[in-house]
Amino acid sequence: MAKEYVLVAGGTGTLGTQLIQRLLTHGVQVRVLSRNAAGAQRLETPQVEVVEGDVRDPASLRRAMRDAMTVVSAIHGFLDKQGPRAIDRDGNRNLIAAARGAGVQHFVLVSIAGAAADHPMELFRMKYAAERELRASGLAWTILRPTAYMETWLRLIAAPLVQSGRVRIFGGGRNPINFVSAHDVASLVEAAVFNPARQGSAIDIAGPEDLSFVDVVRVIEQATGRKATTSHVPLPLMRAMSVAMRLLNPALARQVQGGVVMDTTDMSFAAAVRGSPSWTRGATTLHDVVVRDYVRS
Ligand SMILES: NC(=O)c1ccc[n+]([C@@H]2O[C@H](COP(=O)([O-])OP(=O)(O)OC[C@H]3O[C@@H](n4cnc5c(N)ncnc54)[C@H](OP(=O)(O)O)[C@@H]3O)[C@@H](O)[C@H]2O)c1
Repeated sequence: MAKEYVLVAGGTGTLGTQLIQRLLTHGVQVRVLSRNAAGAQRLETPQVEVVEGDVRDPASLRRAMRDAMTVVSAIHGFLDKQGPRAIDRDGNRNLIAAARGAGVQHFVLVSIAGAAADHPMELFRMKYAAERELRASGLAWTILRPTAYMETWLRLIAAPLVQSGRVRIFGGGRNPINFVSAHDVASLVEAAVFNPARQGSAIDIAGPEDLSFVDVVRVIEQATGRKATTSHVPLPLMRAMSVAMRLLNPALARQVQGGVVMDTTDMSFAAAVRGSPSWTRGATTLHDVVVRDYVRS
């Protein structure tokens, strides 16, 4: 009998690597889609197979879907040259079409809290387009919409603080943002994969705290005992850069614009779950993650 796989697109990422460990505890076979199979070789075990492919290349997706019963999409193109339009919208559309063609039983889409057609950030608009595509696909689906990952932001703030004592904050850094641990999100994706009762629902996932970037620096200082010298990139400069860089370096322009939105838009827990029919909250605090990843390790 053919083996049945859970295909994880984005299995090499912050969330994806955590998710794979959890899927394996259920005794399933896992297949990881990566643009760089050689780089992802470290993930390979008798239960984990890596296949090279790209969500922009439908032929590679057809190969990756062989014997897949469940597909998890944990990809994004926010940092890449191609961007969210090509990856989060069109790439997810390709993944969904390939899953339908291969007779996949369940498609789990990792979207983002606040995804909406009129959001100021392209990433959120393209995630919303992917959500719509999945809902209309005829596949059984679950959509998970997390807030910002602590682990992602700590790599940008805690790592330089611990190494050099210096931190740069984009904007004033006083806007409260909800952060969730990617480990908590992985546990909810795991539950979505194995619990058919969650199918057909879109669940917002928040963390326990709303923190500004200035608060984040304070938490890191307290947990590590290091004192930070903090500098700020002024908002008017960020606004100008996000326009001026568009042609030369669209990925950087997009990230700077994201920084403007995060400094000026309501990104709190209340905003994340406003109007949400279903939400849940992870328990891991930012302090827990700093201690786990930057003090003990
Ligand atoms: N980070 C956050 O704060 C945050 C917040 C809310 C929601 N999310 C969502 O959570 C999910 C995981 O995010 P993350 O931060 O863990 O991601 P990440 O660490 O940045 O990794 C991105 C993943 O996307 C894959 N990918 C990108 N372009 C691809 C392409 N063209 N074809 C195939 N794979 C491609 C990469 O695979 P290879 O490089 O191996 O090809 C990688 O595994 C995403 O859906 C993201 O939108 C993230």
